[in-house]
Amino acid sequence: MDSMLDDRFVLDDSSAVGLSEQFGTPLYVVSEAAFRARLRRYREAFSAAYPATRLSYASKANSILTILRIAYEEGYDVDVASEGELRAALLAGIPASHCHLHGNAKAERELDFALEQAIGEILVDNFRELDRLVSRDLGATKLMLRLAPGVDPKTHRAISTGQADTKFGFNIADGSGERAVRICLDNKLPLHGFHCHVGSQLLDPEAQRAGGAQIASFAIEMEQKHGFVADLLNVGGGLGVRYLADYQPMQAAEYCQLIVEAVLTHLGDRRPTLAQEPGRSMIAEAGVTLYRVEVIKEVPTIQGRKRYVVVDGGLSDNPRSAMYEAKYEVRAIASGETSLATVSGKHCETDTLFADIHLPTNLAEGDLLQVLCTGAYNASMASNYNRFPRPACVLVGLDGHAKVIQKRETWDEVFSSQVPPG
Ligand code: LLP
Repeated sequence: MDSMLDDRFVLDDSSAVGLSEQFGTPLYVVSEAAFRARLRRYREAFSAAYPATRLSYASKANSILTILRIAYEEGYDVDVASEGELRAALLAGIPASHCHLHGNAKAERELDFALEQAIGEILVDNFRELDRLVSRDLGATKLMLRLAPGVDPKTHRAISTGQADTKFGFNIADGSGERAVRICLDNKLPLHGFHCHVGSQLLDPEAQRAGGAQIASFAIEMEQKHGFVADLLNVGGGLGVRYLADYQPMQAAEYCQLIVEAVLTHLGDRRPTLAQEPGRSMIAEAGVTLYRVEVIKEVPTIQGRKRYVVVDGGLSDNPRSAMYEAKYEVRAIASGETSLATVSGKHCETDTLFADIHLPTNLAEGDLLQVLCTGAYNASMASNYNRFPRPACVLVGLDGHAKVIQKRETWDEVFSSQVPPG
């Protein structure tokens, strides 16, 4: 069942049919072996490149509890971007001391909750948050400053976060980063170091390299000017994945080597712990989605005819096509001659999932489609738009057996927040 296509997890046809019959569609499927292999490979690559490293799994990519638990078992801390993600990590049995709280607008109650739980680290984004922290008992919680290094990554504009005008973090160039350091020092806050995350789905690592170099230089500048010695530098996540076979993300070993060199070049003889928090590159290629074709329709166009293949899901289980013009590889069980088709969802708007892709001409209503590389930012971004229940997710375990790790939502759950009128 657990096979690989150029290292991406793919179900063989009979397993795809079996799982769809047993669990229904749309269905997210994650391979435990593929996920663990990625987590291990990255951890080994990072430790081979540098002796003092720390990795966290960015839970926003997929925060199904079993997924979080596996990441933790493989030696990862968990990066959470909200109280909800922190609660997910705690429900997965991960100690708060191994969680790190992100967020560019943390509410008072989020900070209170995180501190009550004795969270390991808070990544401070702005002056208001610093103000709120100054008056609190931080216990054993450490602080990091999120910096905006002013590098512009080549990725979709919606997932680019390192540029100077980003909403995230303290700007280095305008002196905000330095002011934040001084506030920490003046108030004896437990500052440990600096963080940046420049963007996501980066196939060219130049931006992460530049981001790492910037925060390293900033760390040295803060030491020279204020005597602050950073013991942790975190360069975030961002490594791209193979949504299509011809995407060529850097391999973990080469990437970690490059990041470490970029940082060390600017650090003189300082040797802080280096940290990364990958999300997508850990889980995306370990997951697929199964859909059933509901309807096939041909419509006239100026050039001829267009074939629509309409599946039983769409925008609500994968909003990435609409939001980021994301591309995916789609496999059908039928084989033979192919022609162009547009796969769309069943939402009440033009929710094109995969435009102009090759699918067998004999594809029929009722057939299955398998979409590769959907482990990241699909389940975690799913919604109930048009009152669709969110899909189930099954994990193909190391023993080859599939078990449900997220149940399909029931109608009662879909309506659980509603107050009957009257
Ligand atoms: N650290 C921070 C502070 C982040 O903001 C992110 C992602 C990560 C780590 C993990 O980045 P990754 O390794 O997954 O690239 N919904 C979008 C992606 C948004 C990413 C937001 N931040 C998508 O579906 O493409």
